[in-house]
Amino acid sequence: MTSSEFQTYIFAYLPQSAQAVPAGKLTMIESGTEVQASQFGYGKRYLQRQDAYAIDPASLALQSAQDGTVQLYEPANGLTMFGAVRDAMPDAWGRRVIENKLKAQPNSLNESQYLEQAGSNRLGALDFRKTQTDNAQAGLLPDVQDLSYLVEAADKIETGEYVPEHLRQIFDAGPSMGGARPKAVITKNGMEYIAKFTAKDDAFNVPQIERATLELARLCGLDVPATEYLWLANNKPVMLIARFDRKPGLNNEQYRTHTVSGLTMLGLHESESANSSYVALADVISSSGAKGFVQQDRKELFARMVFNILVSNDDDHLRNHAFVWDDINKGWRLSPLYDVLPKPQVATERYLHLSVGKQGRLATLDNALSMAGQFGLMDKEAARITNDIAMKTREWRTFFESEMQVPTAECDKVKSAFRRPADIGLDFVEKRLK
Ligand SMILES: Nc1ncnc2c1ncn2[C@@H]1O[C@H](COP(=O)(O)OP(=O)(O)O)[C@@H](O)[C@H]1O
Ligand SMILES: [Mg+2]
Repeated sequence: MTSSEFQTYIFAYLPQSAQAVPAGKLTMIESGTEVQASQFGYGKRYLQRQDAYAIDPASLALQSAQDGTVQLYEPANGLTMFGAVRDAMPDAWGRRVIENKLKAQPNSLNESQYLEQAGSNRLGALDFRKTQTDNAQAGLLPDVQDLSYLVEAADKIETGEYVPEHLRQIFDAGPSMGGARPKAVITKNGMEYIAKFTAKDDAFNVPQIERATLELARLCGLDVPATEYLWLANNKPVMLIARFDRKPGLNNEQYRTHTVSGLTMLGLHESESANSSYVALADVISSSGAKGFVQQDRKELFARMVFNILVSNDDDHLRNHAFVWDDINKGWRLSPLYDVLPKPQVATERYLHLSVGKQGRLATLDNALSMAGQFGLMDKEAARITNDIAMKTREWRTFFESEMQVPTAECDKVKSAFRRPADIGLDFVEKRLK
């Protein structure tokens, strides 16, 4: 198969501004639906900016602006695409949306087509434009009032039916956002939210349970964006989660914060996620974290790992962790928490996706404590954090039923996901507390 070359400018939305400027030129060599190689060179003017940031932390560190020569970079670790470019593109769900719009077969388009077709409202602060003078692609985000139509359109996309004319606003509802579950980006009172819907094979009310679990995480002290649970007039449940990569600015503008996945931060390919670990994420916080926040973020990461163990959220892969650029402290912050869902199951021996401690991915509290030092925590402090989260998640049902209005029958469907701390090493935690 012959190769073709695709070129585009990467635009970067500037911190505290609604303006995007050209940051440099991206070239991708494609052969059919495969990307064979990528190359990027920063523009000189971008490098001279005080507020310039690295487009990709693992592969595109900002070169010294004084040097004057423009360097061309390739992705680190032999990757064929830059992680930050991949993060600004759709995964399974967004691809189905784009194919529906173009009446194309599943996975039949080139990566560059998915990249271009995803619109200008992407994860984080990057955009892709054909020339240095192009404007952002037009497209108004739907409003929360349009949710019933969006859900109807999403159902059609899931079943492979073409979306009719009057429901086409789903095509402008952030198809570039990642993940596999049906979703849309909407605005509500000038703020942007991701709306997550049901999927056709769901075994329980996923929007309601995901929302309740995120709120349980907040109760455990974790950093969680604002969430809401809605029951639409057409009897469809929806979860809203406020976007952490958007901030309200002046004149009703939305400012964008550069955001990359954990995968990009570590410079890894998707297929390497399952060999990675929470310690690898803690290490990257140590080396690239924002000044003054390294310890706070490592502790937060440790607490998330413990929470995931206790609620059996084993979908904790490196795209379900993210980092946001802190322009003031010139470093990366761990993003707020998202995509946390309890997974009901019968197995007593359970594993997370990422490695937890000395016993690998084994989802126990003693394993979580086994490498606490790597998160900058003393044994006793790690035990205290673990114990606190275990005591709160143990009361999940009361919280779900009385605070989150989750019906008893729904709680029953997910109860096997919630671990009894005593079954997974609480005694070890208690010993360390003394
Ligand atoms: N609150 C949020 N703010 C900004 N980006 C988010 C937020 N929640 C999720 N994302 C981004 O959207 C992607 C898809 O969302 P996610 O909840 O992981 O969906 P799925 O359940 O389909 O995997 C994530 O991988 C992340 O990049
Ligand atoms: Mg996800």
